[in-house]
Amino acid sequence: MIINDTLSTDVKAVIKSSAPLLREYGEAIAKRTYEILFEKYPQVKPLFAKAPPNQPHLLARSIMAFCENVDNLVFIASDLETISQRHVIADVHPGHYTMFGQSLLQAVQEILGKKASEEIISAWKEAYFFFADLLIERERELSTRCCNKEHANVVMA
Ligand code: HEM
Repeated sequence: MIINDTLSTDVKAVIKSSAPLLREYGEAIAKRTYEILFEKYPQVKPLFAKAPPNQPHLLARSIMAFCENVDNLVFIASDLETISQRHVIADVHPGHYTMFGQSLLQAVQEILGKKASEEIISAWKEAYFFFADLLIERERELSTRCCNKEHANVVMA
């Protein structure tokens, strides 16, 4: 998967500075994200019918990996590929990303409260949409290449 890195060095610096907060609160943020998502947008719940019970942990881990490798995003290319493949199989659409992003950012604000500066919130907002765009683009490619979702995991390898 090719990553066109358009994040500014300023945003990257803020993302990196938030690593200790993420390490401490990442799991709580991820758990709260799904609570908000399912509460506000119950229509997406069926997409998660086959998701593993540790889904919040997987999300927290992927956010942490992004934070730790923000200067070398090539290191998370294979993680992004796996996420994209799972999303295509689960029928995630570009329109879902706004719902997910709002839920994630609300969870960040609720859990971190005053511990997160405006600067951190705004850097994470930008990073979220950057990350989301990478996934959307890749998922579009995979969906176009693979018309039979039943066999998506085989064809997309
Ligand atoms: C930047 C945004 C997102 C990130 C970082 C993210 C991250 C992840 C991760 C790490 C996994 C687990 C992959 C694995 O099994 O290793 C996953 C799976 C999944 N995600 Fe996302 N996700 C995002 C957006 C979304 C959106 C917008 C939706 C739809 C509302 C969604 C729905 C799902 C579903 C349904 C699965 C489970 C698939 C399965 O195993 O059955 N995700 N995501």
